[in-house]
Amino acid sequence: MKIGILGVGKLGLCFALNLERCGHEVLGIDISESYVQQLNQKTFQSHEPQVNELLSLSKNFRASSHIADVLVNDYDLLFVMVATPSVPGGGYDHYQIERITGALVNFGQRDKPIHLVIGCTVMPGYTAELQKQLHDYNYILSYNPEFIAQGNIIEDQLYPDQVLIGEGNAEAGDMLETVYGTLCKSKPTICRMDPLSAEITKLATNCFLTTKISFANSIGDLATQAGADAEKILAAIGSDSRIGNKYLKYGFGFGGPCFPRDNRALNAYAETQGNEMLIGKATDNVNRQHLQFQLSQILAKHKAEELIIFNEVSYKPGTVIIEESQQLALAVAVAQAGRKVLVREKPLVIELLKEKYGNLFAYEVLS
Ligand SMILES: NC(=O)c1ccc[n+]([C@@H]2O[C@H](COP(=O)([O-])OP(=O)(O)OC[C@H]3O[C@@H](n4cnc5c(N)ncnc54)[C@H](O)[C@@H]3O)[C@@H](O)[C@H]2O)c1
Repeated sequence: MKIGILGVGKLGLCFALNLERCGHEVLGIDISESYVQQLNQKTFQSHEPQVNELLSLSKNFRASSHIADVLVNDYDLLFVMVATPSVPGGGYDHYQIERITGALVNFGQRDKPIHLVIGCTVMPGYTAELQKQLHDYNYILSYNPEFIAQGNIIEDQLYPDQVLIGEGNAEAGDMLETVYGTLCKSKPTICRMDPLSAEITKLATNCFLTTKISFANSIGDLATQAGADAEKILAAIGSDSRIGNKYLKYGFGFGGPCFPRDNRALNAYAETQGNEMLIGKATDNVNRQHLQFQLSQILAKHKAEELIIFNEVSYKPGTVIIEESQQLALAVAVAQAGRKVLVREKPLVIELLKEKYGNLFAYEVLS
């Protein structure tokens, strides 16, 4: 198929390269001209595993900063993968998607239907709203988010447990199922439904995972206070097949660019429906409470003048992402409590930390 990816950032570029290696002709559209140039010259360097190799091996992937290229060249399927930043109330700002759809509208009504797939994380109800705006221009809209973790995006896209398709109509759903049939090396459960249900499913899945993490940390904190063995307790609970061990470890709270904000977005969406997501709110509160517990443990364990070392403070080892990192939040809290903190990290992370926290920490490059 000829597939256009509108927004080839962290997620979109991986998706584009994975589709290309499965035999599709892929055109990536991005607003940043210098980035487009680097992609076409294959000089772009990503921190995401496998991306640089896939880019250099690619033959049927190219990038452009002109959205018209996907329209005049008859691309069958367009995925929108631009960023959707969080807003203070916990929802998502869709302005980058709107710039894209605004540009599509400016090109007028299409002769044949175009399948436009929203791959970004959006507030429930948003795809239907867009469908209304684009219906007269001959676009069919579907919602199809990704369940991936940064640091493992390429593999997560190839081996998903489930593919979530919020289909605009049955034909659009079939088309997406065919694409994933060519992409996935696992045998994922294909979950087809209407776009609103899929939008809720995406947020609710991450809300469930954060709840599981917060539950494990609550039990772990209690066990630690009581002098019991947190790891053994959680391993036993997780061995019950109704519960499972995944995400049931005692450790840092949940963080990073997806979990906290999806959880909050579901809470915010529930409020628009006159519903209060008590679980989502409790999960968030537990995450904060757990950080305070970890802080009190560290302060009690180390003497006042002792150097306290943090090996890696990115939200997930191996990544360079510090957004909502609980490891970093703990290091900051320890340093702000007046303790000497040494952070060992990759040079890029140290640069980010110096910019944000200056000399709150001492730094050492992780070898
Ligand atoms: N990165 C992840 O791990 C991850 C995981 C799950 C879901 N998501 C969701 O996927 C979406 C994309 O996330 P990301 O991390 O890839 O974002 P990103 O910021 O890395 O990439 C967005 C890209 O879109 C481009 N862009 C912005 N406006 C544009 C326009 N008008 N036309 C063309 N290109 C434009 C930007 O230049 C950038 O390259 C978000 O909704 C995010 O919540 C991301």
